[in-house]
Amino acid sequence: MTKHLIRVKDVVKNFDGLNALRSVSMDIEAGKIEAIIGPNGAGKTTFFNIICGLETADSGSIYFNDVDISKTSSDKIANLGISRTFQTSQFFEHLNVIENIMVGRYLKTSVSFFLAGLWLPKIYREEHRNMVKAFEKLEFLELYDKADRKLSQITFQERKLIEIGRCLAMEPKLLLLDEPFGGLNITEIKFLAEKLIQLKQQGMTILIIDHHFGTISNIADEIVVLNHGEIIAKGKAEKIRTNEAVIDAYLPS
Ligand SMILES: Nc1ncnc2c1ncn2[C@@H]1O[C@H](COP(=O)(O)OP(=O)(O)OP(=O)(O)O)[C@@H](O)[C@H]1O
Ligand SMILES: [Mg+2]
Repeated sequence: MTKHLIRVKDVVKNFDGLNALRSVSMDIEAGKIEAIIGPNGAGKTTFFNIICGLETADSGSIYFNDVDISKTSSDKIANLGISRTFQTSQFFEHLNVIENIMVGRYLKTSVSFFLAGLWLPKIYREEHRNMVKAFEKLEFLELYDKADRKLSQITFQERKLIEIGRCLAMEPKLLLLDEPFGGLNITEIKFLAEKLIQLKQQGMTILIIDHHFGTISNIADEIVVLNHGEIIAKGKAEKIRTNEAVIDAYLPS
């Protein structure tokens, strides 16, 4: 039987009369890369916000690992194993690279950033483990030698990778990436796409919003097209590329 890590059913979200999502349903199998594409304002980020608990759906249900999370707070959802990046990267500008990754660990473990300064044995042990895990993620992203850099000393691409590293530090089961390829050049896109494939090979389930159809086609198992808050097509890249409704709404013919 197919194991769906997340099951979204009939999710509706309105903002002051604007139908951001009109009965959106989506099931994602564990270990797959699923992509959401669609024009600006289609409701893609709103969909992410609802999954991770930053917004509450007006109606509909969301099951993660068979647990109803439609009314669960965002911090609990993060602890259950859903981690996301933002369309505009969010950082702690006064912290260096490794500390920005460790923030993800602090969200996951009982050690807060402030407690970490205390030298209590339990906290010391957990802090050590947090540090090891954070460096592991940095190494995976090939940024190990940038660990003590200030954020002002790193590139735009590195910022995007660090935000993903912070998510990975939480050891999520589901990774939500909002436009991870946005603003990257071709070499950087290839590098990140390869990393996402490696994550999938390690068993991660990934949901990506992006506008780079070529890259998405190469890495996604399935593509969902949103337009005006509705799913207008769903399937493999080849099928989506030639779908007339999708071409009309979004893709150049
Ligand atoms: N908090 C909010 N309050 C009011 N309207 C909102 C809010 N969040 C989103 N919207 C509106 O809902 C619609 C969907 O927005 P959303 O950000 O989900 O689109 P998107 O598909 O992510 O677009 P983009 O590709 O530009 O990022 C838009 O019309 C947007 O203006
Ligand atoms: Mg968006």
